[in-house]
Amino acid sequence: MPSTRRSLLTAFLTLPLIDAVRINALAQADGELPLTLSCEDGDDLTPKQEAGPFFRPNSPLNRDLYPDAAGGERITVAGFVFDDRCRPLAGSLVEIWHADDNGDYDSVGFRLRGHQYSDAQGRWWFNTIVPALYPGRTRHFHFKVQRPGGRVLTTQLYFPGESRNDRDRLFQEALLLNMKQTSDGRFGLFDFVI
Ligand SMILES: [Fe+2]
Repeated sequence: MPSTRRSLLTAFLTLPLIDAVRINALAQADGELPLTLSCEDGDDLTPKQEAGPFFRPNSPLNRDLYPDAAGGERITVAGFVFDDRCRPLAGSLVEIWHADDNGDYDSVGFRLRGHQYSDAQGRWWFNTIVPALYPGRTRHFHFKVQRPGGRVLTTQLYFPGESRNDRDRLFQEALLLNMKQTSDGRFGLFDFVI
């Protein structure tokens, strides 16, 4: 049966609720990780990137952005927020903003802008659309991530296989989404390590 965005999100959210230390122990036992845990390297914090000109404060508390651009290709993006020792960070602010399916940002309202707080296991997810390219940049999402009481990480996430990645002055391989194509859109995973 082909996977859907929902089935992959459900699989992500119903992983056994174990802490990342045990995930790492399992991975060593099995030789395979259920998810890429970039924090296992210890000093691999998620790189920061510029916010760019289109950030607006006070985005709504909303993880379902798909209705903001109903004609776009659907994508679910999801992941953990970890500290540098692979411990999930519950209650972390995760904010997204991105271009619509015409490559435009909403500079008046809050279309395709939203934030949420990671759950008790440090997980977050947004249902949204694939942003269109706009002049001068490869395809990307903008994010801000902040653990409770911590500093704000501003960064961007990228799409694998984009021909413009190589020519983008900001593109970083460490910020690539782990992307799957499903029967009803894409599903991208990324773990923030802050
Ligand atoms: Fe942008």
